[in-house]
Amino acid sequence: MSKQFDVLVIGAGPGGYIAAIRAAQLGLSVACCEANAYDDPKGEPRLGGTCLNVGCIPSKALLASSEEYENIAHHVADHGITVQGVSIDVSKLLARKDSIVTKMTSGVQFLFRKNKITLLKGHGSFVSKTEQGYLVKVSGQETEEVIAKHIIIATGSKARHLPMVAVDNVVVCDNEGALKFASVPKKLGVIGAGVIGLELGSVWRRLGAEVTILEALPQFLGACDESLAKEAAKLFSKQGLNIALGVKIGEVKAKKNGVSIAYTDAQGNAQQLDCDKLIVSVGRIPNTEGLNLSAIGLTTDERGFIPVDDHCATAAAGIYAIGDVVRGPMLAHKAEDEGVLVAELLAGQHPHIDYNCIPWVIYTAPEIAWVGKTEQQLKAEGRAYKPGQFPFAANGRALGMGHSEGFVKILADAKTDEILGVHVIGANASDLIAEAVLAMEFKAAAEDVARTCHPHPSLSEVMREAALATDKRALNM
Ligand code: FAD
Ligand code: NAI
Repeated sequence: MSKQFDVLVIGAGPGGYIAAIRAAQLGLSVACCEANAYDDPKGEPRLGGTCLNVGCIPSKALLASSEEYENIAHHVADHGITVQGVSIDVSKLLARKDSIVTKMTSGVQFLFRKNKITLLKGHGSFVSKTEQGYLVKVSGQETEEVIAKHIIIATGSKARHLPMVAVDNVVVCDNEGALKFASVPKKLGVIGAGVIGLELGSVWRRLGAEVTILEALPQFLGACDESLAKEAAKLFSKQGLNIALGVKIGEVKAKKNGVSIAYTDAQGNAQQLDCDKLIVSVGRIPNTEGLNLSAIGLTTDERGFIPVDDHCATAAAGIYAIGDVVRGPMLAHKAEDEGVLVAELLAGQHPHIDYNCIPWVIYTAPEIAWVGKTEQQLKAEGRAYKPGQFPFAANGRALGMGHSEGFVKILADAKTDEILGVHVIGANASDLIAEAVLAMEFKAAAEDVARTCHPHPSLSEVMREAALATDKRALNM
């Protein structure tokens, strides 16, 4: 007889594992299946999905190491510190990253045991709907069938590849290969100036690679507020990232030790980029392969996503889908929040997600973070707003830290003063944005932030000054 559960979660990424934990906390019997071993030395399925294994966590570990290196090699001299013979041991840097990943993924295993979640090792696929619930086959080293009243599909996404550009993850790499180059490439090409291109391009540039990023769109960071994108383009090119916009990629020829990329530049001239390694970072596609959605009457939309409503419910009763496999931004915290939402719904609660309050962060240096509407979106909506901007260069803490680049910009409704969007480019933007998210969740006015006491000296004072600036009364400028 098949094992039965209240909830089966398919996929143990940040969406799936958090959904499983929350459902178990609420007293439901929960199983979660995971297929991917990633780079596990024993070939055992690893928990944590893209985020923990080949995404957020390893990329941030490499960003931190490369930032330390760049600071020591180029910036500590400004503090009067002389360091000689700075060098980098890439294998140690990768081992540090791998040990962080292992710590995090085994942490999720511990949480599964703690919350009495049954881990099923293998690939989940739908078989049928039965009277007791949905029958799902889990195929791993052993195959078993389980029944669950409710299913949460949290199968995530994988890198989109370009037609005619074979990814071997040695010379031509997606995110997986780009996180484990055995040495610093002399010349690195990147296709796509999105989040991965900028973050991983920055990692290898800081470590000494000459990096060229080729982007199809004519504008840089189109999803960002235009003033942030402009500032970022200026700062990144000063750092030495070569970014070519408006290109059309032609033939990509990979050889054993390198790759050449033919492309047409924005002026229509034929160009060629020869490099040692190439990262292809042109977006991600949802994972629905082998799920056998048709067995339960589901299909994907034209872009491959599983259609869901505002509460992540699919068209099949009792089946939900969350995270990268459904609409909305492909972000770990969005996947987690949807996991909590569905678990609480199943337990009879009434949760809600305000998608306008999901923050974005790009972990370059300086970091870029935002929440809510951009200035160009407000203009397109015809909404009257008051901008308030304040630079880190006028903040004592930022100067002391040697991170005085960038600014905070707050956009508030012209009549009600409600905060509509907050945009930060500067040090620690990833942490600073949390205050803005909270303010927006509480529908705060710019005046609420302006009247709140902020510690001195701290970077957070720039947020307060930007709030004051929406009323043209910044104090330190
Ligand atoms: P995933 O994390 O993709 O997990 C899905 C899991 O389901 C996988 O483990 C997969 O093996 C498993 N699976 C798939 N199909 C099946 C099946 N049929 N049966 C069993 N298991 C299955 N986001 C951020 O918010 N911040 C960041 O800093 C950030 N950095 C990133 C850096 C990189 C390089 C990349 C690639 C992504 C990054 N992201 C970041 C995005 C983030 O990783 C994803 O948004 C997040 O992992 C999505 O979570 P998920 O649970 O929906 O899917
Ligand atoms: P992306 O969508 O951020 O950027 C892809 C870029 O490639 C775009 O600028 C696009 O115009 C360009 N592009 C597409 N086709 C092209 C072509 N043929 N030639 C040249 N350029 C082309 O996707 P990316 O960087 O691959 O990341 C995938 C997703 O992973 C992100 O959208 C994000 O959701 C998530 N992520 C989040 C991070 C974070 O939160 N800090 C970090 C890394 C990834």
